[in-house]
Amino acid sequence: MKIEMNEALLVGYAPIDDEHRALLGLVNAFFVLVESGADRQTVYDAVDGLSVNFAIHCEHEKGWMLAHRYPDTANHLDDHVKLIGELGAMLYRMDEACDDALAEVAKFIENWFADHVKHGDRPLGKFLKERAVKTGV
Ligand SMILES: [Fe+2]
Ligand SMILES: [Fe+2]
Repeated sequence: MKIEMNEALLVGYAPIDDEHRALLGLVNAFFVLVESGADRQTVYDAVDGLSVNFAIHCEHEKGWMLAHRYPDTANHLDDHVKLIGELGAMLYRMDEACDDALAEVAKFIENWFADHVKHGDRPLGKFLKERAVKTGV
């Protein structure tokens, strides 16, 4: 399994696109790890690491939204809280049904990019890009 960065996933604001690219690199490394048959603890640690990196990325987006008074900040942050919460919940489920839970994590991350990035981060990226053009920041 591999999620490729492509035109459809770009939001048009380089700092966000760079972080998304880095996250996908971690996600794809995670898929390789899983497919190589790594033991459960290694996989668990990797999912934990992914969860932390997604949370850090969400904090960065939050900082940009607050700094530039993004109008849809509340909804976007709600979405982040939900996404990070669900990813965390999957970590716990991994102890019970490892294979099913891994497929669930992979599907969840795919959906994150297909849904939140397209519908949440893209309008944010457009807004930040326009702000950057106007203010030079
Ligand atoms: Fe994002
Ligand atoms: Fe976001």
